[in-house]
Amino acid sequence: MKFFIDTANLEQIEEAIALGIIDGVTTNPSLIAKEGLQGENAIMQRYVDICNLVDGDISAEVVATDFEGIVREGEMLAELSPKIVVKVPMIKDGVKALNYFTQQGIRTNCTLVFSAGQALLAAKAGATYVSPFIGRIDDITWNGMDLIAQIIEIYANYGLETEILAASIRSSLHIVQCAELGVDVVTCPLKPILGLLKHPLTDIGLEKFLADARKSRS
Ligand code: G3P
Repeated sequence: MKFFIDTANLEQIEEAIALGIIDGVTTNPSLIAKEGLQGENAIMQRYVDICNLVDGDISAEVVATDFEGIVREGEMLAELSPKIVVKVPMIKDGVKALNYFTQQGIRTNCTLVFSAGQALLAAKAGATYVSPFIGRIDDITWNGMDLIAQIIEIYANYGLETEILAASIRSSLHIVQCAELGVDVVTCPLKPILGLLKHPLTDIGLEKFLADARKSRS
């Protein structure tokens, strides 16, 4: 399973890269806004900076909602680097644009996916990745993992090649559940990834080993 980091923050990305387990980055307009970048040039520069830091796929999202606008923005983003994956919302013009980008050989990530039907459409349109939002589904007391299982089953039924990129991951448990189901990629902030490190028996065991090592070295 690939691990992407869901942030536009360069320090967080660097910290994640230092762990040696990061395969790519996803961003969205909210994460970009959080960085306080002003104007299109600054935003484009941030994508370039991320591409220079990371050896992997970088999702950059369009903000247009009409076909022509999505295509214009997507092509501009794709020109920044071959690492760029154009993130397109699951709307009618978005599906049309996914199909267009597929014909042009531009890789895509279909975002804001909350149902199996939407995931099926994204795959039919040739999306490289589909992003079901697990945490936001859990937030309304539905079960994000049920959706993941449904998408896996549907894609397997027809050999659809779109990779399932589980997004809106809120906890380390989400990551493990995704791995159990065989998800292709998870994207999340650094915290849930670091949470995977934790186990009280590791801490107790290490304390004991270090204490014993001190004895044999004194
Ligand atoms: O990039 C999309 C996604 O990961 C958003 O997560 O936490 O805002 O629901 P969240």
